[in-house]
Amino acid sequence: MHNYRQVTDDLYWVGADEHRLALFENIHPLYHGVSYNAYVLLDEKTVLFDTADWAVGRQFITNVKAVLNGRPLDYLVINHVEPDHAASIEEILLRWPEVKIITTPKAVTILNQFGFQLDPSNVDTVNEGDTRCFGKHTIAFVYAPMVHWPEAMVSFDTTNGVLFSADAFGSFRSLDGKLFADEVDFDGEWIDDARRYYTNIVGKYGPQVVALLNKAASVVGLDNIKMLCPLHGPIWRKDLGYIIDKYTHWATYEPEEKGVMIVYASMYGNTEAAAEVLAAKLTARGVTNTRLYDVSSTHVSYLISDLFKYSHLVLASVTYNLGIFPPMHNFLTDMKALNLQNRTVAIMGSGSWAPRSGALMREEIEGLKRMEILDEEMTVTSSLKADNESEIDALADAIAASVQK
Ligand code: FEO
Repeated sequence: MHNYRQVTDDLYWVGADEHRLALFENIHPLYHGVSYNAYVLLDEKTVLFDTADWAVGRQFITNVKAVLNGRPLDYLVINHVEPDHAASIEEILLRWPEVKIITTPKAVTILNQFGFQLDPSNVDTVNEGDTRCFGKHTIAFVYAPMVHWPEAMVSFDTTNGVLFSADAFGSFRSLDGKLFADEVDFDGEWIDDARRYYTNIVGKYGPQVVALLNKAASVVGLDNIKMLCPLHGPIWRKDLGYIIDKYTHWATYEPEEKGVMIVYASMYGNTEAAAEVLAAKLTARGVTNTRLYDVSSTHVSYLISDLFKYSHLVLASVTYNLGIFPPMHNFLTDMKALNLQNRTVAIMGSGSWAPRSGALMREEIEGLKRMEILDEEMTVTSSLKADNESEIDALADAIAASVQK
């Protein structure tokens, strides 16, 4: 049974939800599923924008066939070749062998690497700013390198202002019958999934996302964009400024909020107890926008996501094998890999002998860009005791002063 949805008078969503996948990219946990979006335009010519992961290939093909309703598929626009969108291309080529592919030259290279046998005579490679007319609709193609792979482009329908934005403006979470962002509680229910998707998947490429936003503003004109059709998550037809503002914060590594996330690494609960004391002291100083995380039991994708949200970070880690506790080290490594910058950091080391974690975490943070490390660092020797009170008070004072300035 088909499950397509109408987007505009002649544009249809033909994607599918995925609920069974436990790990997106085999690394990021999915507790609320994900959608793979694809779109069919019924103009004088028929145009399919992207395909879907093979896990949902049957539903995707069923939807495409139902929307075409016997018409041939004339064009396949490939904005992004990552297999979560491109895996079903082969099935499209088998069913509609005459279809003409429109994509970037680099996409062709990567598709060949993945083993797709593309007939060069059926491939129309487009350059930056090229347009193609399909009848009533003229589509402009805008390169979007590293958003999130080098071959990516976005497609802008100059006739009605629809932007097929590839991975940009996407989100984890399945649609479950909804289609538009204004049909869900996006700011309440979805935003954390959207942030976790962006920060972990595209977060490293902030400058490239900024470049795409600037290009969209100058080439297309932001006011001319009436609808955002991403490859994951809901379509934006209202309040586009909301999600563009979020993306602007994330891409420029500007925190969304003044707040403190405390991430602790604790083997037997003593560093955890110290982190709890610090959290209580922050509350006593009027800093209530705080979050406390056990790095051992919180998947790093959630930590990265909140790190893009909050302005301040406290790292509290036990020393392990004379180094940083491994899950905390993994978190720091991920921060570096994702180019995280522009945060204020407080450090609390701990250990029972030769406690080195504080100094080592400081070194890691110093290797990141535009990070401020507060001077009031402290070390917990085995456990926090009454004679540590002045130190932890000083740390809480410094964090509170920084948050409240
Ligand atoms: Fe959703 Fe970069 O693929």
